[in-house]
Formats: sequence, structure tokens, C-alpha cells
Amino acid sequence: MEKSNESESGERVQKVLARAGFGSRRTCEIMIRDRRVAINQIVAELGARLSPGDELQVDGAVISTFPDAVTYLLNKPVAVVTTASDPQGRPTVIDLVPADPRVFPVGRLDMDTEGLLLLTNDGDMANRLTHPSYGVEKEYLAHVSGDPGRAALRRLREGVELDDGPTAPAKVSSPGPGLLRITIHEGRNRQVRRMCDAVGFPVKRLVRVRVGPIADRNVKPGTWRKLSMNEVLELQRATAQAR
Ligand code: URA
Repeated sequence: MEKSNESESGERVQKVLARAGFGSRRTCEIMIRDRRVAINQIVAELGARLSPGDELQVDGAVISTFPDAVTYLLNKPVAVVTTASDPQGRPTVIDLVPADPRVFPVGRLDMDTEGLLLLTNDGDMANRLTHPSYGVEKEYLAHVSGDPGRAALRRLREGVELDDGPTAPAKVSSPGPGLLRITIHEGRNRQVRRMCDAVGFPVKRLVRVRVGPIADRNVKPGTWRKLSMNEVLELQRATAQAR
């Protein structure tokens, strides 16, 4: 269905797109002409304006129109808690990233889990990334006690019974002795540790190596970097379709 969303109020779409990092206004006009842009799921026409509350999509992915949106990729070290403030005064992930603008963690990693964690001030994106219906993949490397064989791998893949219900099918491989690569799209509390416990191979060290399309071996523990516009777009694409 196509309908004009041209109106006299609100900001022109090409201006919003340009500010969001899609290139010059001219480039963004071409995107609109190429019918890659939609407002509230209706293909936008040149001249269309965006009003507060409108949903903007590029190539089918919802785009954040929050002008000062920032997303960091942090490599969380062990012994740092994933919370904005800790009553016990332990170091938090917030202490590791710039204080301004204020960001918050997307989901959480246990205190003793390391690896990639996104932090953002974009509440909409954070909600989409953590909401189970979008099922964004999270990939972990688990160093376990013992050496899981094919039967354990199969059980992990097919789903194991935990006290809060069975786990969904997971991608599981063993890249080396005592090492498991586990990809899940649920976000239950201590899920990977509990899955490994359930098959008799407790986790000794757990590292998250990917969140959706975002992975980077060059971000060292305790350091962070800003996501590029392309990475933000990829993330938005990853949450474009609910399961
Ligand atoms: N699974 C866990 O067990 N711990 C985490 O921090 C994340 C996933």
C-alpha cells in the first residue's frame, strides 16, 4: 500500500536521515527516490516529514531518530557488575565508559562473565535488543571442566531442562578440548552456565564474543569503542523482524 505522508509539520525525512548518519541530504533524497525509506510502514515520498512518534524504516529496518543516540561496545572484564550503580560499591560497567551522555547496559553479563556488552542511551533500541521476541543471537566461548563429547553437545543443541523450563535449540560446537562455542537467542539468568551444569560440564570461564552482528577481537578487556553507523544499522536490521 502506498500513501503520501507529506504534511506541513515535522522535519523532512532527508534531514532526519542525514543527521542519523546516512550521508548528505542529497544522498538521503536518493534513498527516498529509490523507495528504500518508509514512515510507519508506508513508503515515503520526497517531501515527506516525520512527526514525533513516527517510525522510520530504511530497507525494512527501524531507524532510531533519536538525534544524540550513542552506542558503545565494551569488553567487560571479570569482577565488574552490569548495573548502573551498585549499592555494595563494586566497579560497574558504567564506570568504564564516558559519563556523558548517560548510557545504560543492554541486557547483562554476570559479574564473573567477560566479553562484549553494548551500552546505549537509545531506549528503543535497547528494548528491541533485549526483548525475547526479537531473539538476537548471543555467542559465548565457555571454558568448561572436562571435555564434553558428542552426546553433551547434542543435548545442549536440542535444549536442556532447567528449573525455569527447557532451553530453546542452540548452536553448539567444540572448537577445542574443554571449550564450547554456544550461541543462544534467549537471555535467561546465568543461562549458559546453567546449561553447561545441566550436562555435567561446569563453566570455568565464560566470554561473550558476539551480540547479534557485532563482534570485535580488538576491543581489549576494560576498553570500549563507539559503534559505527553501519554497525548501528546492522543491529537495527537484526531487530527488524520479530521471531
Ligand atoms: N550466560 C551466563 O551464564 N552468564 C552470562 O553472563 C551470560 C549468559
